[in-house]
Amino acid sequence: MSQLAGRKVIVTGGAGFIGSHLCEALLDVGAEVICLDDLSAGKRGNVAHLEGKSNRPNFRFVELDICDDGPAMDAAFEGVDTVFHNAASKKNICLINPHRDLEVNAGGALNLLKMSMKHGVRKFVQASTGSVYGEPQIFPTTEAHPFEPVSYYGVSKLAGERYVDVFHKLYGLDTTILRYFHVYGPRQESNEFGGVVSIFLRRITQGENPIVFGHGEQVRSFTWVKDLVEANLRAATDPQATGRAYNAASGIRVTINELAKGMLEILDPAGKLEVEHGEPLIGDIMEFDVSNAAIREDLGIEFEADFWGTLKTALADVDAFLGKAEPTGVAA
Ligand SMILES: NC(=O)c1ccc[n+]([C@@H]2O[C@H](COP(=O)([O-])OP(=O)(O)OC[C@H]3O[C@@H](n4cnc5c(N)ncnc54)[C@H](O)[C@@H]3O)[C@@H](O)[C@H]2O)c1
Repeated sequence: MSQLAGRKVIVTGGAGFIGSHLCEALLDVGAEVICLDDLSAGKRGNVAHLEGKSNRPNFRFVELDICDDGPAMDAAFEGVDTVFHNAASKKNICLINPHRDLEVNAGGALNLLKMSMKHGVRKFVQASTGSVYGEPQIFPTTEAHPFEPVSYYGVSKLAGERYVDVFHKLYGLDTTILRYFHVYGPRQESNEFGGVVSIFLRRITQGENPIVFGHGEQVRSFTWVKDLVEANLRAATDPQATGRAYNAASGIRVTINELAKGMLEILDPAGKLEVEHGEPLIGDIMEFDVSNAAIREDLGIEFEADFWGTLKTALADVDAFLGKAEPTGVAA
């Protein structure tokens, strides 16, 4: 990762959940980090520990919309070597405003790609999602699975991916697409737009039952946030990743029922709470069995396989997990 030392990088969505962990790790390997975020979902508090500290002189926060193609974006791109594009309009927000979703996830990606060409960026790493496959039909699901998105989010993220491919094929831009699945870790939102682990954690620590939508046998491939950070760093530096798209998922299989019960065992040993079932969610995908063979083979990523051990350790600091405490800045 020393290849990134001294390089200027942009992390879009850097004040969000995954982006803030990526900013930390990039600073730790000696990169100069521009965290670009419009704060529509992210929080300045997620990166406050990286700002204005004498031991972090290489960090700058720029409040900007990724769709902005004016002088402020040109200034942010000056001298940039690598772009880690993590900003996105997320799943639930898409349902409220699908047009804005398209504008951000497709138009925003296109704008950043154009800016990258204009400013001679060397590498573009795109955060994508397993939602581009829709309801998987082939198991284990490899990168060759057909694209059949069943959500506005999946469609707009797929459009973003396609623009990335076009810039690679037409202009030779060095690009890599990472398709994330069911990421969990500290600072993930616990509101209705957040992740299931954080939502269950908030409810249980408030003395409320975790609510499972539908029967709860939905399978998820929970992936530790630090593994995705590692995947981003390797994608940015390994020539094998050029022009490729990878599933970036742990490959583990945990049902929502197992998650709810397991979290109650960890956080409510006295057994005061119980798993509650709510109405099924429309369009909820039931089965995930994701192949991560390609990214493991090409980039040597070893995903955390001890889900319960990792979760238990992380849950020991509830405030940090829920983003209430000042992050400690622990590297990946
Ligand atoms: N969390 C997951 O499980 C998961 C799964 C699959 C894919 N992803 C992808 O990972 C990336 C990061 O997701 P996250 O979970 O950290 O989400 P997040 O909402 O915590 O972070 C996204 C960030 O993007 C910022 N943003 C949104 N629109 C913007 C805009 N127009 N201009 C500038 N910034 C903008 C938000 O303010 C936020 O800080 C996204 O691209 C998402 O599609 C996440």
